[in-house]
Amino acid sequence: MSDSTVNVNAALNTTAGTAHVGTTVGTADAAATDAAPLLSVRHLRKSYGSHEVLKDISFDVMPGEVVVLVGPSGSGKSTLIRCLNGLEDIQDGEISFNGRPVSRNSEKAWRKLRTRIGMVFQSYDLFPNLSVAKNIELGPTAVQKRAKAEVDEQMDRLLADVQLSQYKDSYPRELSGGQKQRIAIVRALAMNPELMLFDEVTASLDPEMVREVLELMLRLAKRRMTMIVVTHEMEFARRVADTVMFLEDGVILERQPGGDFFSSPQTDRAKRFLESMSPVAAE
Ligand SMILES: Nc1ncnc2c1ncn2[C@@H]1O[C@H](COP(=O)(O)OP(=O)(O)OP(=O)(O)O)[C@@H](O)[C@H]1O
Ligand SMILES: [Mg+2]
Repeated sequence: MSDSTVNVNAALNTTAGTAHVGTTVGTADAAATDAAPLLSVRHLRKSYGSHEVLKDISFDVMPGEVVVLVGPSGSGKSTLIRCLNGLEDIQDGEISFNGRPVSRNSEKAWRKLRTRIGMVFQSYDLFPNLSVAKNIELGPTAVQKRAKAEVDEQMDRLLADVQLSQYKDSYPRELSGGQKQRIAIVRALAMNPELMLFDEVTASLDPEMVREVLELMLRLAKRRMTMIVVTHEMEFARRVADTVMFLEDGVILERQPGGDFFSSPQTDRAKRFLESMSPVAAE
């Protein structure tokens, strides 16, 4: 069993976790225990035609680190997340996973890697014609070729932990938006990913369903799942982030420990962004 398997299984099985949420020293903290980054991005450039959307992006993500990616609409957050999962061709730069560079734009290399990187988007991407159980089992059995009995055992545990066991035989259309997103997260976790990418997973949820999804992500963070999270939920971001990266027009303008970013952003642009995200001032 790999470390990541332990990590993921522990993620939902225990309620008591390492004090992690709200700490502001994630990078240094993670670096102290695991010196090598899980993910390294160097000089990444991505264009759509002549429009350069990501401009010389470089950063590391340490094992167990929670990186929150924020920035104005159109700044390139989704594009970056998609590049990190090999869903977009890149024009320059290097992405390394566990110290190994991924062959640039090699679909074969990415297909292999994608089994180790979980991704959840804004829209529920469950297969509508498959039951919850079949949605969850498909990747681990068909792609990872794991034994169904073992996968089912893990699935039962994961479903119980998100309190959705009774929906095992339901179809996605029978679930609420929040339930669908939690199943989408469980489905990704069933692959025992080493890294989870979340792109605005609560953006299309009704407010009362946002909380249950954010709480699940907070629990994953507590258990030191390595995650990159794009979110517009600033209070959640403040609580979950070890590190915040502020993206503006395809450039990382700031990279700071989470607490520092929210209390003292370094650039005027980030200050204005945070002001624009704060609730309407009372009259
Ligand atoms: N498939 C595409 N073809 C051409 N241009 C694209 C494509 N996808 C994104 N872009 C452009 O890339 C830029 C970054 O888009 P992206 O979706 O990454 O922004 P974002 O930061 O995720 O924004 P939002 O907060 O609104 O989700 C935008 O100018 C967008 O128009
Ligand atoms: Mg986006």
